[in-house]
Amino acid sequence: MSWAALLGLLAALLLLLLLTRRRTRRPGEPPLDLGSIPWLGHALEFGRDVASFLTRMKEKHGDIFTVLVGGRYVTVLLDPHSYEAVVWEPRSRLDFHAYAVFLMERMFDVQLPHYSPSEEKARMRPTLLHRDLQALTEAMFTNLHCILLGDAAEGPRGWRETGLLDLCYSSLLRAGYLTLYGVEASPRTLQSQARDSAHSADVYHTFRQLDLLLPKLARGSLSMGDKDRVSSVKGHLWKLLSPVRLATRAQRSSWLESYLLHLEELGVSEEMQARALVLQLWATQGNMGPAAFWLLLFLLKNPEALAAVRGELERVLWRAEQPVSQMTTLPQKVLDNMPVLDSVLNETLRLTAAPFITREVVVDMAMPMADGREFSLRRGDRLLLFPFLSPQKDPDIYSDPEIFKYNRFLNADGSEKKDFYKDGKRLKSYTVPWGAGHNQCLGRGYATSSIKQFVVLVLSCCELELASTDVEVPEFDLSRYGFGLMQPEQDVPVRYRVRP
Ligand code: HEM
Repeated sequence: MSWAALLGLLAALLLLLLLTRRRTRRPGEPPLDLGSIPWLGHALEFGRDVASFLTRMKEKHGDIFTVLVGGRYVTVLLDPHSYEAVVWEPRSRLDFHAYAVFLMERMFDVQLPHYSPSEEKARMRPTLLHRDLQALTEAMFTNLHCILLGDAAEGPRGWRETGLLDLCYSSLLRAGYLTLYGVEASPRTLQSQARDSAHSADVYHTFRQLDLLLPKLARGSLSMGDKDRVSSVKGHLWKLLSPVRLATRAQRSSWLESYLLHLEELGVSEEMQARALVLQLWATQGNMGPAAFWLLLFLLKNPEALAAVRGELERVLWRAEQPVSQMTTLPQKVLDNMPVLDSVLNETLRLTAAPFITREVVVDMAMPMADGREFSLRRGDRLLLFPFLSPQKDPDIYSDPEIFKYNRFLNADGSEKKDFYKDGKRLKSYTVPWGAGHNQCLGRGYATSSIKQFVVLVLSCCELELASTDVEVPEFDLSRYGFGLMQPEQDVPVRYRVRP
């Protein structure tokens, strides 16, 4: 090795040591675990399988600890009784904007001047609730009907073979896109519906290529080839969702109208608007398809659960004048009277929703825990809550937490079960699929009714079966922890057809 190379190596090592300046635990702080690699700390294990890593750390340190991950100190809190206080802390102490803004730029190239997530949320909230929610739910039923039954009716009326994730993801995303971003023409004609079908399929297939690369994109670990692919896919999506193209669409939702107005008021260029609209496509459509996939898969693998849901459907629909395939909307009272399906959905989300809830620590502060302990947090650190581990997979709260039990959220009298306990104390939030506090999902009412409508349509109008009965429930794609709904490592082959 030449002198120059040796000096370079020494300088790099010195820099690494300076960067790490090994931190020590101060009195009152949570246990500190720096891992064995300077600066990187636990980054590799964290990136590989965060759930296993945090489980191991929890066994070692308890329900609060600080770990070093790629130069950042992350305090992980896993006591569900203590979540509530944290998620409502004011932004001046625990900030939820900075990380959102960072990810928005890194993943979707979106930079908005004077951007305020709270203001944006305040604008969006009314467009996803009450009367507007009713309108969205009705439009979604029409669109799901067209996409699911229209596709299945194409070609010979026989069995179609596909992947279950692809079936669920494409149906919900395409219908969701048409519902929020509008359709070709109003009133709709057979020709305009065919164009809606083709255009929404283009949006789905392009989006899905990006979706598959998002975990790597968020972690900054794309290969050169991936980078080229991401930029060409994004370019295509920006064209598909450009404000100029959207301007000609009919039946646009009040959510879209309000969001576009908000972007115009921020003085954002048309190019940046298109990027923001792609970001919103992900935020609004990235989770429903995977949720429906796990739900239907659990039903297909659990005949007792499937029979219970079918029985409930028959009970709520027996008075209906038409079969579901001929309905133009699904009556709200049908949707509101399905405690078995609600329990199945809750159980599915308990097992498969794994978002991170993150905050930047803005000031040195004391964080009280629900059991009376208090810990000091350091300014500049990050706080992470991971409800997937607790409460959702916590054996103290749920018996056999890995197992799908369709009636876990049902009382003996058939009503919704809401009382779950840890350490003898009732939990306020016993599952947290929608995030919490300042970050809670605004679309949860719409998402719930959309997934339920999709399941009702599939079960009433289609025959759906696993391609082979010995298909196992696939493992998770571990890179998706932190993003919302987990996705499977590989799709599950199924066949389906519209009931004759
Ligand atoms: C199963 C389906 C869904 C799940 C599990 C889900 C979950 C979540 C979670 C965990 C967050 C918090 C993200 C964060 O930490 O910032 C979130 C935020 C949000 N969700 Fe959902 N979501 C779903 C569907 C939807 C739908 C259908 C819509 C709208 C039509 C929607 C709109 C939003 C919005 C606007 C936010 C706020 C984003 C922000 O804070 O910037 N979501 N969702």
